[in-house]
Amino acid sequence: MPSILILNGPNLNLLGQREPAQYGHNTLADVEALCMEAGKRLGVEINCLQSNHEGVLIDAIHEAGRGVAAGEVLGVVFNAGAYTHTSVALHDAIKGAEVPVIEVHISNVHAREAFRHHSYISPAAAGIVVGFGVDGYVLAIEGLVRKTR
Ligand code: DQA
Repeated sequence: MPSILILNGPNLNLLGQREPAQYGHNTLADVEALCMEAGKRLGVEINCLQSNHEGVLIDAIHEAGRGVAAGEVLGVVFNAGAYTHTSVALHDAIKGAEVPVIEVHISNVHAREAFRHHSYISPAAAGIVVGFGVDGYVLAIEGLVRKTR
């Protein structure tokens, strides 16, 4: 069964307690359970990883790229958190690993502070899902499956 990596960046481990007006009341465990459910429905294996460390996220993207090359991985659903707005290294990792990435943001970053309007991930992404709350992860999984099957 092909797999999809659900990759969450910094501070997303605090979902549920962190700024609920922006991000809602679901925890990261709730989000991962939603993703698992979607995976079952769509016939894809779901693997989940969250890290607050840029290098760990880069390594995970490289590994996913090797999985894509081996025909085992469809791609990555990636909420890079604040690294979205700062990380050339994550942009380069996605391009270098040649991995289809669907960028997800729980909140509508374009309706928020100006520093959230620019994404280093978007130009390297295969698709973008923004502002649908945690349902965005499920939409991204569905989109990735449609794009890659
Ligand atoms: C976020 C938006 C980012 O600007 C922020 O730094 C996050 C979460 C979102 O899911 O809406 O950590 O990626």
